[in-house]
Amino acid sequence: MGGAKHGTSIPHFLSFHSLILLSLLLFHIDNSFSSLSVVKYTPTDSYLIDCGSPQTTPLDDGRTFKSDPETASFLSTDENILTSIDSIPDNVLSSSLPLYKTARIFRDDSLYRFLIIRPGWHWIRLYFYPLPHPSYNLTSAVFSVATDSVVLLHDFTLKNNTTVVFKEYLINISSDELSLKFSPMKNSFAFINAIELVSAPDALISDSASAVSPVGDFNGLSNYALEVSHRLNVGGPIVTPENDTLWRTWQPDNQFMTFPQGAKSAAVAPDTVKYSEDGATPFIAPNWVYATADQMADSGVVEANFNLTWEISIDPSFSYFIRMHFCDIVSTGLNELYFNVYVNGMMGVSVLDLSTLTSGLAVPYYKDFVLNASAITNDSITVQVGPVSSVHSSLTNAILNGLEVMKMSNSAGSLDGLFSLDGKFQGLHSGPNTMKIFESVGLAMGVMAVLLLIIGIVLWQRGPRDWGKRRSSFSSWLLPLNSSHCSFLSSKSKSSYSSYFSSGLGLGGRFFTFSELRDATENFDENAVIGIGGFGKVYLGEMEDGTKVAIKRGNPSSAQGINEFHTEIQMLSKLRHRHLVSLIGYCDEQAEMILVYEYMANGPLRDHLYGSTLPPLPWRQRLEICIGAARGLHYLHTGAAQGIIHRDVKTTNILLDETYVAKVSDFGLSKAAPSLEQTHVSTAVKGSFGYLDPEYFRRQQLTEKSDVYSFGVVLFEVLCARPAIDPKLPREQVNLAEWAMQRHRKGLMKTIIDPHLTGNISSESLMKYVEAAEKCLAEYGVDRPSMGDVLWNLEFALQLQEASSQLFNDAEELINLEPLQGKDTKGGPSLDISDDSEVVVCSPLFTETFQGR
Ligand SMILES: *[C@@H]1O[C@H](CO)[C@@H](O)[C@H](O)[C@H]1NC(C)=O
Ligand SMILES: *[C@@H]1O[C@H](CO)[C@@H](O)[C@H](O)[C@H]1NC(C)=O
Repeated sequence: MGGAKHGTSIPHFLSFHSLILLSLLLFHIDNSFSSLSVVKYTPTDSYLIDCGSPQTTPLDDGRTFKSDPETASFLSTDENILTSIDSIPDNVLSSSLPLYKTARIFRDDSLYRFLIIRPGWHWIRLYFYPLPHPSYNLTSAVFSVATDSVVLLHDFTLKNNTTVVFKEYLINISSDELSLKFSPMKNSFAFINAIELVSAPDALISDSASAVSPVGDFNGLSNYALEVSHRLNVGGPIVTPENDTLWRTWQPDNQFMTFPQGAKSAAVAPDTVKYSEDGATPFIAPNWVYATADQMADSGVVEANFNLTWEISIDPSFSYFIRMHFCDIVSTGLNELYFNVYVNGMMGVSVLDLSTLTSGLAVPYYKDFVLNASAITNDSITVQVGPVSSVHSSLTNAILNGLEVMKMSNSAGSLDGLFSLDGKFQGLHSGPNTMKIFESVGLAMGVMAVLLLIIGIVLWQRGPRDWGKRRSSFSSWLLPLNSSHCSFLSSKSKSSYSSYFSSGLGLGGRFFTFSELRDATENFDENAVIGIGGFGKVYLGEMEDGTKVAIKRGNPSSAQGINEFHTEIQMLSKLRHRHLVSLIGYCDEQAEMILVYEYMANGPLRDHLYGSTLPPLPWRQRLEICIGAARGLHYLHTGAAQGIIHRDVKTTNILLDETYVAKVSDFGLSKAAPSLEQTHVSTAVKGSFGYLDPEYFRRQQLTEKSDVYSFGVVLFEVLCARPAIDPKLPREQVNLAEWAMQRHRKGLMKTIIDPHLTGNISSESLMKYVEAAEKCLAEYGVDRPSMGDVLWNLEFALQLQEASSQLFNDAEELINLEPLQGKDTKGGPSLDISDDSEVVVCSPLFTETFQGR
């Protein structure tokens, strides 16, 4: 990016920057909670369904649940068995009472399917109440409820239940669809009164917490599903959905205190609670929660020496996520209050010093813990706060404002019992995977024993002189037999046994033997090569069962360590998303480093844009492909355990499957995104010419915004159907990013778009799209949108296109799809140049350094 660009663009940049400033300002107002008592959260995905209800149901908290007929399209069954009563017994106290008055009954497996616009944490709330029905006795119903990834309820029943049952879950959705399945037990049926599926703010659950036992950090929380067991407004009254920022209910804590006489509640006006920039936000808990607390009854008395103790009964076979809310509303000055926090008798925080943590009084703070199932001995969790030895302060006191306890999904992927989604029992020692491993170990040992016996016999026959000779070459004697089960032995001897074991438990991909892959590619035949990268060659392979796979074989001469390779596999195999090319498995036998991926039948996106004879894609399809790729990147940045930067986003790394679903590939180059403390990952410049973030180039600092820049180039490439760098063109046109921005500023964008698109693209859609691409290409990372925002804009562009194409008739669409020949006059030698750069620069697994210039 030369200086000339700045010269010509001053007016534009001014307006662009002021736009961003304005939006930052708006964002800031939206988020500066301190002065506002009411904070509104608008969930992107929001499905509120009052099942069985003929009309919509408004609640006191301001929300309206849709009627059953309005939501029937989400449901897989046409069968309508509904039931209702006029009023619910008075002993039920809940603002959601109207929801329990109607229910839907399912006699067979039935599915609700919801589109997810914004992946991430979502609430699922289920409302049950056994209503009377002439032919179905709802108290006898036994059924299971599951999403696509987690079992919520297993063989659930409301037997002997006279009150309403409310179940609340937080699940992290990574795909763009969620299904909720109701499965009745044999000869029984299922029912549901109301369903909520609502987006939760990303920041609600962070990925890490403090592990209580053993003490340490717990990471990877976003890989779990959570079920709310208890949520308490300590020292205060019930807080109903109406007064909560996320429609939660906070129960009073009295009944959970083991020694209520020792506690004294404290309360201040909710608007004196001051949310700080970096502490808790109103979404973590509303000010109603922070404005009340329990403290020690005899606080101030030096001898006061006991703990405030809450005992919460739980199912001890699960691990729990525990969040404690604190807000010093009891002190008169800073540095007066110090106390210890215990979880199940173990130290959670030694000498919690709220003054230092929040630099103020009445400033909310929260702390997350994970308590492992192995550390739970009773049917309960105890939470305690108590004074520290008086060395630290003259006053003894301790407080708690709020407490949340959530069950974490177990290794069977369930929140209720040990049955996994497929209905199999996943007991500790009877898992099918473990069995398989033991079987293969057994088989291998058997083969070994037979071999030894044969050796023994042969040697015994040949006499003692040969014996010594043979023994020295024992291992080399085994190697040539490297087929079928024997390859397992050799791989085991090379320490990859452990990775095979862990893959059996679902941590890594599948392990492939070298011979298996050699057969699949007909001995790595050159004709099977479908791609070449810095890592090595990519082969199309066909497994024995006919499945096609892409096999990426690392350069044997590389310096890549086997450990690094294993780390890579572990990371890659954890990333599962509809818009990421999945790693199926790997092979590390004989110092080979081979990755096996799902095969993408329609190849790289670039081949569908230029430089080949493939028919051009219509605008709608291009948009859908961009949206898919954006989703994949968004997931890499935000959805994975630790954010991941792709580092080499380009049209050859966006692959299309047989139905043209876009999937991002080659995130092997990826490095974990910076954590909160660091703001960037400093590293040698990698990536491809024409896609490189100028900021990254200059400062060698890598952020997710570098991917956003590259994606902006991809967007223009898709629109203009030409390479990112085309040296054949006049100088000012060589770099697509510069050229497109220049044309756009002059209002001449339409002159450079793919001629196949002209006439088929609505100008509103085009405008929105170019706007999105332009923002991605902002000079500085901070000015660029997040992938989530880009995604949003692209979806908007698609909607605009659809709105306008409804005005045209179908014939238009047909013209659109017609293959056009002779369009690849632009490709040519330029392709080779960027491909060369790919080989040198974009090594996915190795760390060659590219000296930018
Ligand atoms: C909830 O909000 C209403 C109206 O703002 C208020 O009158 C009421 O006291 C609040 N109560 C709680 C603690 O839920
Ligand atoms: C508070 O509870 C912890 C853990 O159960 C215990 O070790 C400690 O002695 C208790 N403190 C007091 C003052 O009773």
